[in-house]
Amino acid sequence: MNKMKIGVIGAGSISDMHFESYAKQADAELVAVCDLNRQRAEDKAAKYNVEHIYTDYRELLANPEVEAVSICTWNNTHAEISIAALRAGKHVLVEKPLCKTVEEAERIQDAVRETGKILQVGFVRRYDTNAQLVKRFIDNGDLGELYYAKASCLRRLGNPGGWFADSERSGGGPLIDIGVHVIDLCWYLMGRPKPVSVSGHTYNKLGNRANVRNLSFYKAADYNVDLNTVEDMANALIRFENGASLMVDVSFTLHAKKDEIAVKLYGDKGGVELEPELVLVTEMLDTILNVAPQTDSKSINITEAFNQEISHFLTCCRTGNSPISPVEDGLTMMKILCGIYESAAKGQEIRL
Ligand SMILES: NC(=O)c1ccc[n+]([C@@H]2O[C@H](COP(=O)([O-])OP(=O)(O)OC[C@H]3O[C@@H](n4cnc5c(N)ncnc54)[C@H](O)[C@@H]3O)[C@@H](O)[C@H]2O)c1
Repeated sequence: MNKMKIGVIGAGSISDMHFESYAKQADAELVAVCDLNRQRAEDKAAKYNVEHIYTDYRELLANPEVEAVSICTWNNTHAEISIAALRAGKHVLVEKPLCKTVEEAERIQDAVRETGKILQVGFVRRYDTNAQLVKRFIDNGDLGELYYAKASCLRRLGNPGGWFADSERSGGGPLIDIGVHVIDLCWYLMGRPKPVSVSGHTYNKLGNRANVRNLSFYKAADYNVDLNTVEDMANALIRFENGASLMVDVSFTLHAKKDEIAVKLYGDKGGVELEPELVLVTEMLDTILNVAPQTDSKSINITEAFNQEISHFLTCCRTGNSPISPVEDGLTMMKILCGIYESAAKGQEIRL
């Protein structure tokens, strides 16, 4: 089998998960890397044995050897680079969030349809083994009709700084950065019902709390605390056409006792908690049972999830099958996220 030739655009923190996952796949070969920061691109090229190094993504895309790209750049560049890559005949795996606005997402969707190339959105949590197991329980009818879900990702201290804290480049704070993961996972497992309205709040109360010492957290490659124009925390209620609802709260900083993550879904036959720890809840013989599936990890195994995301991407590129996280889902997620920001700004519920 010919190896699929891969380029990685954006060689910062998360790109390592992409490089390492491609390096493990027998049917892929890393051939190109691009970053605005040449040294960073050179370091990744040396580490992963990559031949071509660029600082301009257009030059990488002009290399006919490259068949598919991972886009691991700032959110404000995802639309431009994705569209250029598709038009250059490359398949695209783009990191979450798909982009910054609904209008950009629609333009990416148009480019996917126009070129017929694969575009997979990096909703990595969907690719986790436990998430796929829960999906099988749901598809099997074991939880019945899902009518309520709760998505939470609260960091007491964890503003990654740099571009993440610059709303021009990121599109927002914890809602668009980490909220997108847990909202998407709940929505995917709920069977992707059509969202009809959102009502949300955002708060800018604590700043980035760069003064706090002795606690480490995820940082952008160009960590910098001077600029912070994003919210500290956000919450929202999302209503769906089928009557189901999803509650969400997320933060970069909050006076919380500890970090919290929750992905919980409730149906009329049973419930499931995927995070913080996989457990199914059901009823038998008039008795409530908490059932703990015996899998390797109680929570997400992020390395394995990335491997599975990238393996799925390569399979889709080869077969032409649509990925399980297609551009359409990236667009719906942008409608939800941008709707929540609009609701918070206007102080009212927004119909989508
Ligand atoms: N799936 C996940 O769990 C996950 C986790 C973290 C970040 N991400 C996403 O990955 C993306 C990158 O995040 P990160 O944490 O690696 O950030 P980072 O700041 O560590 O790295 C981003 C890199 O992109 C480069 N870059 C920016 N614009 C560029 C351009 N036009 N051309 C070439 N290079 C460019 C920067 O120089 C930087 O090296 C973001 O979209 C983020 O939301 C996903």
